[in-house]
Amino acid sequence: MEFQAMIEEKRRKFFPVRLAGGASGTGYCVDEATFREAVTDIYASVFPERDAYPYRPKSAHLVKEYAHGHVERLLIENAEGKVVGWLKGRMEDANTFYLGTSGMLPEYRAQRIAAVVYARFLEYLDDLGYERVTSQHHPHNRSAMILQLKYGFTFEGMSLDERWGPMVKMVHFFDGDRRAEFERRFGFEQYPKGPSEAAV
Ligand SMILES: CC(C)(COP(=O)(O)OP(=O)(O)OC[C@H]1O[C@@H](n2cnc3c(N)ncnc32)[C@H](O)[C@@H]1OP(=O)(O)O)[C@@H](O)C(=O)NCCC(=O)NCCS
Repeated sequence: MEFQAMIEEKRRKFFPVRLAGGASGTGYCVDEATFREAVTDIYASVFPERDAYPYRPKSAHLVKEYAHGHVERLLIENAEGKVVGWLKGRMEDANTFYLGTSGMLPEYRAQRIAAVVYARFLEYLDDLGYERVTSQHHPHNRSAMILQLKYGFTFEGMSLDERWGPMVKMVHFFDGDRRAEFERRFGFEQYPKGPSEAAV
């Protein structure tokens, strides 16, 4: 099966994710133009200090070339169809999906909406065949890192980037052999595993 046909079949299996109860609404995959338009509308409310797309590459050719890899863009809507959040990421290498950006409008945070969509998104990436999911966060971004820790991510490093400042790198393993290798290289048995790590 061609890659695009496989992706579409799997998207149908996992999305839209329906959010029950107080957090009613949906999370669903969209194309780049739809994503940009929707996210540009709410970006300033999620990140009040930043422009929507502050880093603009010089070369349209390079942007086009880079766009060839697998990219996923999810919008999260409330029950009235208003976009209240997003997730977006791309293939980092043939084993790894990089979860590049996410955000919820402040009034929709701390309601487990992001958590439900993250969980389904991870199931989907696992089903696609990825072995690892990575992300990067500012060290003060407690909410993002706590959410990821709860879903089995662990810390794998730190980078210093002129665009984003200091960034803590996190990784999630779908496969036991990846986690075992991580443990073999970095494990420290005296620390007990939490429930989400133990379950992975
Ligand atoms: C990151 C973000 C999307 C997470 O969404 P959220 O609405 O805060 O997360 P949820 O309500 O789904 O919470 C997920 C879990 O993390 C926990 N959590 C989130 N923030 C927390 C905090 N500051 N302290 C303790 N626990 C926290 C929740 O209790 C919940 O745990 P539970 O499932 O056991 O109940 C949201 O905070 C956001 O938009 N932040 C601003 C943009 C941003 O920083 N994006 C990421 C850039 S890397």
